[in-house]
Amino acid sequence: MTAPKQPRAAADTRPAPVISVIGTGYLGATHAAAMAEMGFDTIGVDVDPAKLAALSAGEVPFYEPGLPELITKHVATGKLRFTADLAEAVAAADVHFVCVGTPQKAGSHAANLSYVEAATRGVAEHLTHPGLIVGKSTVPVGTAERLRGIVREFTPSGIDAELVWNPEFLREGKAVDDTLHPDRLVWGGASSAADAVIREVYAAPIAEGTPVITTDLATAELVKVSANAFLATKISFINAISEMCAITGADVTTLADALGHDARIGRKFLNAGLGFGGGCLPKDIRALMHRANELGAGRVVGLMQQVDEINMGQRERVIDMTIESLGGSVLNRRVAVIGAAFKPLTDDVRDSPALNVAAALHLRGAQVTLWDPEANETARRSFPTLTYASSKEAAVEGADVVLVLTEWDDVVTADPAALARIVGRRAVIDARNCLPVADWVEAGWTVRSLGRPTPVTGAPVSVAAGAADALATAR
Ligand code: UDX
Repeated sequence: MTAPKQPRAAADTRPAPVISVIGTGYLGATHAAAMAEMGFDTIGVDVDPAKLAALSAGEVPFYEPGLPELITKHVATGKLRFTADLAEAVAAADVHFVCVGTPQKAGSHAANLSYVEAATRGVAEHLTHPGLIVGKSTVPVGTAERLRGIVREFTPSGIDAELVWNPEFLREGKAVDDTLHPDRLVWGGASSAADAVIREVYAAPIAEGTPVITTDLATAELVKVSANAFLATKISFINAISEMCAITGADVTTLADALGHDARIGRKFLNAGLGFGGGCLPKDIRALMHRANELGAGRVVGLMQQVDEINMGQRERVIDMTIESLGGSVLNRRVAVIGAAFKPLTDDVRDSPALNVAAALHLRGAQVTLWDPEANETARRSFPTLTYASSKEAAVEGADVVLVLTEWDDVVTADPAALARIVGRRAVIDARNCLPVADWVEAGWTVRSLGRPTPVTGAPVSVAAGAADALATAR
């Protein structure tokens, strides 16, 4: 994981650039830690004093494997520090990364650009010497050009400032590795002087052979949203096909495996199931729709609308399947939900399909008991009325149906026979197509999936109270 900074040529006596990172959320905290790991003096800036105090103590306010260790390491080496004082950070640094959020606007599909505008203006106003402002946030195409206007307006006269766009492609759960070893580096709008500085900042990944694509501002902005739109489209494509599999008895997982062997298609992002959620894909495709509509690019609007609808429809499919499994009503039935995070290896529940389904069933009168190995607390903050269990066993105990909504290893590798002994009815809905179905059937479970044929239930061994009823209703 270590990515030592590349030594400069012996004759080069210029000091290495100091880095400021504005915004210390997922993107900013990880980027700041990675910059320190690459050898740069780095200052993380945020407006939230509690977050700054936590980060300075090596505590990361979200679950991201490897990040606390990297932050602790570089706070200790002195390469990384955090401050709320933007003026001081900007005065101390040469390259300023804008990493603040661009959430979906309330009541609209558009991205809320107020944070990115405020951060850019703040950096420009406080420049005391020439600075390179590097935007990393995901923004609608055309934003960076407008931000250049802000930089021109607010930079003190006589100081050179340049703004370029350098989108980030990190995935939650793999953020540290994705940042230290990106699969590509893209930046747009750089002068030759700015280009040289960015190459110096990314010297380590470039030396590892990471491809570099330099382009104009608009292309750089669009690369990021197009990447997320394509990933979302791939997921909705396989989910649409999974509906046909469900009707015809075909197996969507085998189908995806077969498609994946075609190098032009690839197997990744072809896992059918409950669909995509999280802080990026949903809001990014909606912001793309909104921007495409403004620009009169109707085909993108239509395509993304379908992708979004198919995705949201998967949540309905799982709710309907649960109601059907319980004989037509979930009222007062005990539903065990495994998973609240939008995907494994994170505690993020933003637009989480899992939490959405759990909450919808709760609203229909089900007694929902939820367990997630990392996201119980973040989920509780969004939906305090659900019951949260301290283990998967505690969630499953006595349940009328078990829903697997996030494919945590813990449940994928669980012993179905042990769970069968404590559950009320041996009915499981595998909404991520992640369970070894034959093993669960062998242990007496009725398994329902999204686009995998419902296997014949194995002979129940020592049927628990209610299990026979389960088998009867579930078929
Ligand atoms: C995404 C992009 O992958 C990343 O490049 C970008 O910088 C930010 O957005 P992330 O939100 O961390 O990253 O999650 P990702 O791993 O892409 O998964 C997104 C969602 O798609 C999850 O809810 C996941 O469960 C779902 N998914 C993924 C599927 O339903 N099927 C798949 O085959 C793959």
